[in-house]
Amino acid sequence: MATATAQALSETARAFIERGPHKLLIGGEAVDAADGRTFETIDPATGEPICEVAHAGPEDVDRAVTAARAALEGPLKKVSPSKRSGLMYKLAELIKANGEELAELESLDNGKPLAHAGGDIAAAVNHLRYYAGWPTKIEGETIPVSARDVLCYTLREPVGVCAQIVPWNYPLVMAIWKVAPALAAGCPLILKPAEQTPLTAIRLGELALEAGFPEGVVNVLTGDGETGAAMVDHPGVDKVAFTGSTAVGREIGAKCGRSLKRVTLELGGKSPNIILPDADLEQAIPGSFQGIYFNSGQSCNAGSRLLVHADLYDEVIERMAGYARDAKVGPGLDPDSDFGPLVSAEQFERVAGYIDSGLEEGAEAVAGGRPDGDSSNSGYFVDPTLFTGVEDGMKIAREEIFGPVLVAQPFESLEEVAARANDTEYGLAAGLWTRDISSAHKLAGMLQAGVVYVNTWGGGDPAQPFGGYKASGIGREKGHANLDAYLEIKTVWTQL
Ligand code: NAI
Ligand code: MG
Repeated sequence: MATATAQALSETARAFIERGPHKLLIGGEAVDAADGRTFETIDPATGEPICEVAHAGPEDVDRAVTAARAALEGPLKKVSPSKRSGLMYKLAELIKANGEELAELESLDNGKPLAHAGGDIAAAVNHLRYYAGWPTKIEGETIPVSARDVLCYTLREPVGVCAQIVPWNYPLVMAIWKVAPALAAGCPLILKPAEQTPLTAIRLGELALEAGFPEGVVNVLTGDGETGAAMVDHPGVDKVAFTGSTAVGREIGAKCGRSLKRVTLELGGKSPNIILPDADLEQAIPGSFQGIYFNSGQSCNAGSRLLVHADLYDEVIERMAGYARDAKVGPGLDPDSDFGPLVSAEQFERVAGYIDSGLEEGAEAVAGGRPDGDSSNSGYFVDPTLFTGVEDGMKIAREEIFGPVLVAQPFESLEEVAARANDTEYGLAAGLWTRDISSAHKLAGMLQAGVVYVNTWGGGDPAQPFGGYKASGIGREKGHANLDAYLEIKTVWTQL
C-alpha cells in the first residue's frame, strides 16, 4: 500500500487492503481468475496503486453463471420468504457494523470525501432494509375471468440469474440498488463493480457470505468492460441490470434485444435546473451549487444546466461563482476537503477536454477553468467550474461532462425554458425553484424527466422510483417498480 493518503486509514481498512491481491467470489469461494490475471486499483488523490485485484475473464463468467444457476435451482429454492428477508436484514446489519471500514475503502478508491462516503454506506443500509421487507409481500392475483368454471391466478417467480454491472461514482450504493431487489425477488446474481472502484463490492461479497446467503447466490467478479460484455453475452444469464454511460447502455440494450434477456438501464443525463423569478435564492443558490458539484459532478442526476430567469441571472451567477471559488478541493481522506478528485486519469482528461472545448467555443469560466497540470501530476483534481456566455448549441451545453462543470444560461418565459430544458436526448432529472405553487406543478408536468426536484436537488428514498426518460435509460430502479424487474408473471388457467 504505497499511497500517501492511505496512511490515514484505520487498522481494519489497512488490513483489508494488505490482504490483496483480492480474489473473485464464485460459488461461495474466493478464487483467482482462471487465467491468473489481475489489475491495480488506483488512489485518485495520488495516482498511485492501492492494491491488486483479480481480473475476471469469460471462463470466470461461465463459472459464476453455473454457480448462480445451481443456487437458483437448489439451495435458494429452499429459503423461505421470511428467511430471505432475515438474511437481507442481517446483511444490512453487517454493512452497518463494518461501516467505518467500508466508508474508508470507498473514499480511498473513489476519491470522495470520507463524510460523503459515510453517507453512501448509510444509504446502502437503508436501501437493503427497505427491500428486506419485500420477500414476504410478493403476491400474485386471482383474475376474475369471464370463461365459465375457470380458476385463473398469477404467480410471481424470480426472473433467474442476474448480471449486474455498476459504475464507480457511488460504488457501494449502485451495487446495493441492484443486489437488494434481486435478493428480495429470490434471484442469484453476479455483480461486477467498475474497474476504477472494486474494493467495497469485494467486501460486500464477503459480508453476504457472513450473513449466511447460500453459496452461489451472491457472486462478485472484478474486471473491466470485457468482463461486463462477457456477462451480457452469456446465454445462461436471464436479466441484465446496468448503470453507466449511454454509449455502453445502447450496446447492452441492443445485445439484450437480440437474445431477449430482460434488461434495465440507468444511463447518462444533462439535467436542467431552473430558477424561476420568484425563487427563494437563499435555498436555490446553495441547493443548485450542491446539485451540480456534489461528488465532484460525477452523478447521473447532476443538475448540470442552470437556467436562471433573466431578472436574477447576474445575482445568481455572482453568488454561485463565490461558492465555487471558496470550495476546498482535496483528498477525500482529508477532513477539510469539500470535494475530492475525479475518479481516474481518464475522467480527468475527459473533463479537462470539455473545459477546453467550452473556452474554445467562446464561453467564459467565471470560476474554475482548465485545471493546472495534467492527469499524471499526482491526483485528478478539478476545481468547481462555472461557465457563462453559453449558447444552446455548444458542446458543453449538450453533452454529459460528468465532472464539476456547470453551464449557466438566462431565460425569459416558462414556455421557452421548458422547451429548452427538454431539447436534449437525455431525460433523467430536472429541477425547479419557485414559491409559486401553480408554476411549480405546471412546469413539473412539462419537463421530460424521470424525476423532477422542486425547491431541492437530489433527495431520494429507497421507496421512490428512479430512472430515465429518453436516452437516460429503460425501466426504473428503487421502489416496487424495481422489484417487478426481477420477477416474471406466470398465469395459471385451470378448467374446473
Ligand atoms: P462505462 O459505461 O464504460 O462503465 C460503467 C460500467 O460498465 C463499468 O463497470 C464498466 O466496466 C462496464 N462496461 C464498460 N464497457 C462495457 C461493455 N461493453 N459491456 C458491459 N459492461 C461494460 O463508463 P465509464 O467509461 O466509466 O465512464 C464514461 C462516461 O460514462 C462518464 O464520463 C459518464 O459520462 C458516464 N457514466 C455515467 C454513469 C451514471 O451514473 N449514469 C456512471 C459512470 C459513467
Ligand atoms: Mg468505458
